[in-house]
Amino acid sequence: MSVVCIEFKPGLEGIPATQSSISYVDGQQGILEYRGINVGQLAKHSSFLETAYLLIWGHLPSEEELKIFEYDVRHHRRVKFRIRDMMKCFPETGHPMDALQASAAALGLFYSRRALDNPEYIRSAVVRLLAKIPTMVAAFKLIRSGNDPVMPRDDLDYSANFLYMLTEQVPEPLAARIFDVCLTLHAEHTINASTFSAMVTASTLTDPYAVVASAVGTLAGPLHGGANEDVISMLEDIGSVENVRPYLDGLLERKAKIMGFGHRVYKVKDPRALILQELAEELFDKFGYDKNYEIALELEKAVEEKLAHKGIYPNVDFYSGLVYRKLGIPMDLFTPIFAISRVAGWLAHWKEQLAANRIFRPTQIYTGDHNVSYTPIEER
Ligand code: ACO
Repeated sequence: MSVVCIEFKPGLEGIPATQSSISYVDGQQGILEYRGINVGQLAKHSSFLETAYLLIWGHLPSEEELKIFEYDVRHHRRVKFRIRDMMKCFPETGHPMDALQASAAALGLFYSRRALDNPEYIRSAVVRLLAKIPTMVAAFKLIRSGNDPVMPRDDLDYSANFLYMLTEQVPEPLAARIFDVCLTLHAEHTINASTFSAMVTASTLTDPYAVVASAVGTLAGPLHGGANEDVISMLEDIGSVENVRPYLDGLLERKAKIMGFGHRVYKVKDPRALILQELAEELFDKFGYDKNYEIALELEKAVEEKLAHKGIYPNVDFYSGLVYRKLGIPMDLFTPIFAISRVAGWLAHWKEQLAANRIFRPTQIYTGDHNVSYTPIEER
């Protein structure tokens, strides 16, 4: 009889699930690096597509490599009319994350030749997923209100084109740049729930569209990507700066979580929240003030007073919603936008998983009974 000598850690907290060279987090010092480069430097100097290239291929592209990559992504933005027609059959009340998960999985029907040992196949899957996910998010936004999707514009860069497809207006350069930085900041974050989900799915050697679809489903939950929607609802519920402290006391009394605060890894303010806050301020300066920002600042102060001893500080979701709102993005698209960005990280982990694959098959600690007799239904 083998003796099992393992301790159960709920949520696998602190247990390494893989070896990875993609990103690094120091939760005590508030450091996040992609391939060794501080995310703040990438936010300042890089673009989302260049960062995606860095994450997926492990090095910053040369000028020529970046030019080709951007060209390829630009020219794969359209989705097949059958996908658009399929989306027209989705209920308009459905959540855009569900629509995205279904559409991402459906892409696999169209590009089904699975050749995981062929670098060309890997490259074209990366290009297609990065190119088409924004188009599908924007298409569902228009389709659900009875409109036809807006076709992508090849003369616009990645972020400007997405905002154009969403709002039917070419965005101001500042808005497009800030949105692009948001994508860079959300592109990767070690082995979080959705990335783990992507890796487990990848380890079965299924196709990359199924990998991304499973990760999208995992990201949708309110404890993960869905929190930034809840932050805005909470700020609106609070309603005024004066109501911040009574509202917070009510939450703490009910032992409810304050959305946009706390993180499994960060025990200081999330470095992405710091950058997003600066971007929010830049946007308010240019496009007008948002009352919820004042409420958010007061809430951050009040939470720090009460919960800093537990290491509870704003996470990435606390300020991202305020930025997206100012860019005119509907609240239920916040998490799909997270997916547009995080697909870069998921694909990097997919590629890394394939390079040293072993199917995930953890064990369990059985807590049930043994040798139980079957009870006939009339005796139950
Ligand atoms: N509000 C109030 N208290 C909190 C919060 C919060 N947001 N987060 C953690 N705590 C408290 C817990 O009540 C607990 O206190 P206790 O030890 O006295 O019982 C302690 O801090 C530890 O909390 P856990 O839930 O065990 O921490 P865990 O690491 O499992 O959870 C999580 C991390 C899920 C992010 C949590 O902080 C949370 O639910 N936050 C709100 C939702 C949110 O903003 N999610 C987005 C995360 S970022 C992202 O996914 C991109």
